[in-house]
Amino acid sequence: MIHPSKFALALLLGLGLSVGSGALAGQKDSDKEPAKDKKEKKAKKTATGTLKVLLPAESTLFIDESPTRSVGPERKFVTPPLSTSKTYYYTLKWTYPDRGRPVTRMAVIEFHAGQETLIDLRPGSKTTLSSQIIYVPTDQDIVEKMLEMAKVTAKDVVYDLGCGDGRIVVTAAKKFGARGVGIDIDPERVRESRANVKKQKVEKLVEIRQGDALKVADLSRATVVTLYMLPEFQKQLVPILKRELKPGSRIASHDYILPGWKEEQVINAQGGYRQHTLYIYLIGDNQEKKEKEKKEKK
Ligand SMILES: C[S@@+](CC[C@H](N)C(=O)[O-])C[C@H]1O[C@@H](n2cnc3c(N)ncnc32)[C@H](O)[C@@H]1O
Repeated sequence: MIHPSKFALALLLGLGLSVGSGALAGQKDSDKEPAKDKKEKKAKKTATGTLKVLLPAESTLFIDESPTRSVGPERKFVTPPLSTSKTYYYTLKWTYPDRGRPVTRMAVIEFHAGQETLIDLRPGSKTTLSSQIIYVPTDQDIVEKMLEMAKVTAKDVVYDLGCGDGRIVVTAAKKFGARGVGIDIDPERVRESRANVKKQKVEKLVEIRQGDALKVADLSRATVVTLYMLPEFQKQLVPILKRELKPGSRIASHDYILPGWKEEQVINAQGGYRQHTLYIYLIGDNQEKKEKEKKEKK
């Protein structure tokens, strides 16, 4: 698993690269094997790996929550020997100024030892999927409204994609008895969500995961999906929802539409200090027909 201190070891190897500190994964040796066998085995199955990151020159970059020190538009990191048969995942978080305002983005990247992995984080890059990170929790009364509009019952499995502090899945479990899965890319949000789940004693119903919500392997389990995400995320999510969700599934989206999709219901609701717009979408057998009708109308 991910072990920040191992990366510091790479710095001592003196590989002559422009390296900062960072958190790349290491491997634990087995205690039971004799030292010689262990060495031979390790030589065969492990290798260093290089991570090359392209990003706006002024960015600050964190790898698995550890700050990196190197600067400039191209940054290289070398790992200590890692297993060549494993896939490693790192969460990259970078902040850069955009027209005078800081923009923070995150991406989960895949990494293999024994090779160089090039990650392009520059704005407009088509090679690395990344999300702009803005954390604004949904007001509690709006959370309840979203779940009511989606007609959540104890039979449902609610997925909140970008779950923040987990309030939507926690409420779905506490108030409606539904099972829930909350996914967030930001480890800080994941810790908050897990603490919330524990505090509200819904561990049996709710699971929280860290990762990219655009890459959820078991999304087809969801009968309800809740969203409070920026348009760039929504746009990428539409084909995934249409492909993965079963007929009868509902999607409740806070403030942002799912582009190109005819909503079933739209309401304006007061929450906190402002008006919110909630959109409900349905996966029906007639979904394709509706899309066609919408196109014909235009
Ligand atoms: C506006 S907040 C909404 C939080 C929560 N759903 C709510 O309504 O209270 C958006 C959340 O999405 C997370 N996020 C953004 N992009 C993501 C991605 N690609 N995968 C998973 N989480 C993501 C952010 O870290 C942030 O916590």
